[in-house]
Amino acid sequence: MIRSFIKEYAPKSIFKILKSIYDLYRRSSNPITRRVTSGFTTHYDFLGKLVIWCPGSQNWWRYPELTIKNTNLYPELLAKIQSYVDQNDTKEWEEGVSSSYGLRNPALTENLWKIFREHGSDKSTVNDYYLIYSDFIDRLKNKGPLRILEIGLGTNNPKLVSSMGPSGRPGASLRAFRDALPEARVYGADIDTDILFTEERIVTAAVDQLDLPSFDRMCESFDDQVFDIIIDDGLHAVSANMGTLIFGLSHISEGGVIVIEDISLDAIIAWRPVLNILSKDYTCGVVECKSACIGHL
Ligand SMILES: C[S@@+](CC[C@H](N)C(=O)[O-])C[C@H]1O[C@@H](n2cnc3c(N)ncnc32)[C@H](O)[C@@H]1O
Repeated sequence: MIRSFIKEYAPKSIFKILKSIYDLYRRSSNPITRRVTSGFTTHYDFLGKLVIWCPGSQNWWRYPELTIKNTNLYPELLAKIQSYVDQNDTKEWEEGVSSSYGLRNPALTENLWKIFREHGSDKSTVNDYYLIYSDFIDRLKNKGPLRILEIGLGTNNPKLVSSMGPSGRPGASLRAFRDALPEARVYGADIDTDILFTEERIVTAAVDQLDLPSFDRMCESFDDQVFDIIIDDGLHAVSANMGTLIFGLSHISEGGVIVIEDISLDAIIAWRPVLNILSKDYTCGVVECKSACIGHL
């Protein structure tokens, strides 16, 4: 009886075991599988979650490069298609370089350079964003006490995305703005609720840029609902930036400015359709800075 059992089942199970060993080998030698760390075991699992971007065709999962290409091409082609319909309607957006900023008010520029460093923000070390902020702040000098909101406080939890590392100082840039502008009211928000704080002229709240309603909840704890400068220094991903923009467009004061930090040169293409749309009604621009670009409107 045992013999007939082995005869009946053993070859099948041995075959199954060998096949799963082979499958495991095949998956682990696939570069996409190896790089995925968030609980996906095959690139099929991973790419299948990109429901908008994976081709709706038979065998699509055998060709991961097609999903990647499809995703990366989309913004560029969208901008091209848009250029056919909006030709007479679209104003050019400005392109600049950081070296032509910071000249309006040299004393303010120097003070911002110093104060960002003192507080431990990278806006005047790794980056030269202080030049751009100097000009924007100077332009708004007749507005009275500025209301500044920044998304991204600078978590020092090394495990979190967008971390400033264990030696980072959460709230560094908020404190720098407060100290550089003695009457300003400064607001901040972050997905990491462990680093929220309240201090003289600084209030912070929770927000997740990828969750639009969380912006409204964030605002409930603020005394101001309209801001003169809104800064996105959070997740640094296009959809997250768009969250800040969508909130910002209905909460920016007349003449105020929205700044998106740390746009990589590779990601600029994804901004073209956005800038094309917004430049009809807003003055928009991209500034190439020391380590990345800044988008503003
Ligand atoms: C580069 S740090 C900000 C540095 C700070 N502004 C400064 O200059 O000192 C980026 C911050 O964005 C936060 N962040 C990451 N993802 C986010 C999200 N989805 N929504 C809101 N904040 C996010 C991180 O927790 C981190 O604190």
